Amino acid sequence: MMGLGRRRAEEATPFYDLHCHILPGIDDGAKDAAMSAELLAEEIRQGCEGLVATPHYYREMNSISEFLARREQAFSEMKEAIAGDFPGWERRIFLGAEVAYYPGIAQDPEIEKLCMGSSRYFLLEMPFSRWTPSVVRDVSMLMTSRGLRVILAHLERFERYADQELLDSLLAEDVLVQMNCEALLFRDMRKTALAMVSGGLTQILSTDAHRPERRPPNMREALEFLRKKRLWGEAEQILMNNAVIYRAAMGDKAR
Ligand SMILES: [Fe+2]
Repeated sequence: MMGLGRRRAEEATPFYDLHCHILPGIDDGAKDAAMSAELLAEEIRQGCEGLVATPHYYREMNSISEFLARREQAFSEMKEAIAGDFPGWERRIFLGAEVAYYPGIAQDPEIEKLCMGSSRYFLLEMPFSRWTPSVVRDVSMLMTSRGLRVILAHLERFERYADQELLDSLLAEDVLVQMNCEALLFRDMRKTALAMVSGGLTQILSTDAHRPERRPPNMREALEFLRKKRLWGEAEQILMNNAVIYRAAMGDKAR
């Protein structure tokens, strides 16, 4: 029994990471391709079976087409760096973006190009200032007029900016909520994070990994914590949601 228990504890639960800054030299994530490879090795060690790379996109810094060209270049560098040690992994990485909200986002003719892979899933970072009705209207339009499946990146970080009534109106429109693993691991955020998971207010869990020394991959630890807190049923549902979105990014139509 002891042996069985130990073996189970050592096995990594497979997962897909849908939010990480693993592409080299494009944002404040991996600084070069060697660091990308280091992050990937750690993701795999923890049980990662595929990921969507989501570099920051800030409208005020570059156009969507400039960003896409830079992202392609970064991905080529990463593919070259991982080809030898991680065979086949270049086909398990899909491209997305963590798009910082900007006024007019819902009218941007090219906005669909920032979705995850071939899917309509769209990772949106809300403003770090008090949300206004017009911000929420824009997000709503991304879903209703543009047909995107909006995922709110690390919603737990917006507690002080999100007016409850505005948030409720978004949740009523089927916006999806992504939580960072760190929310479950940092003492001061845990209470909120656990309440969100147990209350069904978290559909997606991802690492938002940046660098090995600063915000490293941490999915395994987060999953272990959920297991310890007897929230494994919720964790399994979240892992399933992550898989559905990953497969949609791959272009799997049966989703
Ligand atoms: Fe991020």
